[in-house]
Amino acid sequence: MAIPKHLAKPKPRTPRSPAFLLGVAITLIAIVFLVSSLNYASLTASGIVGKISGIGGGRYGGARRRHSLNDKYLYWGNRIDCPGKHCDSCEGLGHQESSLRCALEEAMVLRRTFVMPSRMCINPIHNKKGILHEADSASSEERWAASSCAMDSLYDIDLISNTVPVILDNSKMWHKVLATAMKLGVRGVAHVQGISRDDLKETQYSNLLLINRTASPLSWFIECKDRKNRSAIMLPYSFLPSMAAREIRTAANKIIARLGDYDAIHVRRGDRLKTRKDGSGVERSLFPHLDRDTRPEFILKRIEKWVPPGRTLFIASNERTPGFFAPMSLRYRMAYSSNFSEILDPMIQNNYQLFMVERLIMMKAKTFIRTFKEDATDLTLTDDPKNTKIWQIPVYTMDETEGN
Ligand SMILES: *[C@@H]1O[C@H](CO)[C@@H](O)[C@H](O)[C@H]1NC(C)=O
Ligand SMILES: *[C@@H]1O[C@H](CO)[C@@H](O)[C@H](O)[C@H]1NC(C)=O
Ligand SMILES: *[C@@H]1O[C@H](CO)[C@@H](O)[C@H](O)[C@H]1NC(C)=O
Repeated sequence: MAIPKHLAKPKPRTPRSPAFLLGVAITLIAIVFLVSSLNYASLTASGIVGKISGIGGGRYGGARRRHSLNDKYLYWGNRIDCPGKHCDSCEGLGHQESSLRCALEEAMVLRRTFVMPSRMCINPIHNKKGILHEADSASSEERWAASSCAMDSLYDIDLISNTVPVILDNSKMWHKVLATAMKLGVRGVAHVQGISRDDLKETQYSNLLLINRTASPLSWFIECKDRKNRSAIMLPYSFLPSMAAREIRTAANKIIARLGDYDAIHVRRGDRLKTRKDGSGVERSLFPHLDRDTRPEFILKRIEKWVPPGRTLFIASNERTPGFFAPMSLRYRMAYSSNFSEILDPMIQNNYQLFMVERLIMMKAKTFIRTFKEDATDLTLTDDPKNTKIWQIPVYTMDETEGN
């Protein structure tokens, strides 16, 4: 439908006849109607209408991708890294994201649309709110709902689809794919397990509507063992954090604007401080200096050379002791997500969403200090390596690591 020239460029000073104004009104109504019906068509096509939206619901904007039976699909299973019946044994957000990235990369390599689980498991230790809401008498369905959250309450599915097309496994499109694959039988679907990505590139698979790869329920990431080859990594670590759902991005942007010019630290304590007793009853930890290095007095000393006094310092931490970092306010203007509860409380349903907001805030900091080193150039609170299997005796004194 063409928009008449005089509509696009009105000349305000010429008087209009009532008939002309009526014409304009009808044209505008027609345009609104056309646009909204187009929107509805694409909503239906991508299966967004009719999905059972969990937290917050989905408000989507911008270009939407159409999915059809002409596309090819890749399915890995309905839960990421969640071997048990419930979510008690599932991994934290970071692990699940690594696994999800591994799956998304495979979809990119195979040029397929990825069928994403519509819910993500939240390990109860990561979700205070979930535990509070969980009644003893809850059925297994209710427990699953309480210990998981809607994937689209965490991620913007359309935004991800701009890089890797995805649909959710509760969408109409997925049900259409399943029904069609069932009808086609072996000409439409291959059920595979433990097959390498390179084997899936073979021509025998390339025309199939659906590849159903049953990924390891222990950890999808196991399917990406070739990760040591860095050139095989197509999506950076920051990909999923920056694909946060619109509400999460909006909240983060508001807080970033309020913080102004700021630095940030991610202080991992909580589960990382876990110790266990060895054969002779001595406490041991995987990160012998972590408890020390993440205490306020040690943090102050460590970051002195990176963060000048008087700066605004945003701290994201799983430390729950009230006022734990307060001693640092002698040198810095301290800020936490709790300072912005009027922005966050109305939208945050679980700790994964909260952490996603905090992550976006940390990504925008002028100077950002991690707990553990991920890349050679990272500034960190501790020198303990992140991936280790050696249990050592915790160290609390300073001198031991002085001078390195
Ligand atoms: C995928 O394959 C597994 C067996 O490996 C099967 O149990 C499961 O039902 C299949 N899923 C779909 C959606 O076809
Ligand atoms: C590393 O990955 C690249 C890109 O996928 C591939 O071409 C290359 O053969 C791989 N190298 C090894 C040693 O596996
Ligand atoms: C955040 O709250 C703490 C008290 O919990 C306060 O000391 C601090 O000044 C607040 N920071 C900002 C930036 O408002």
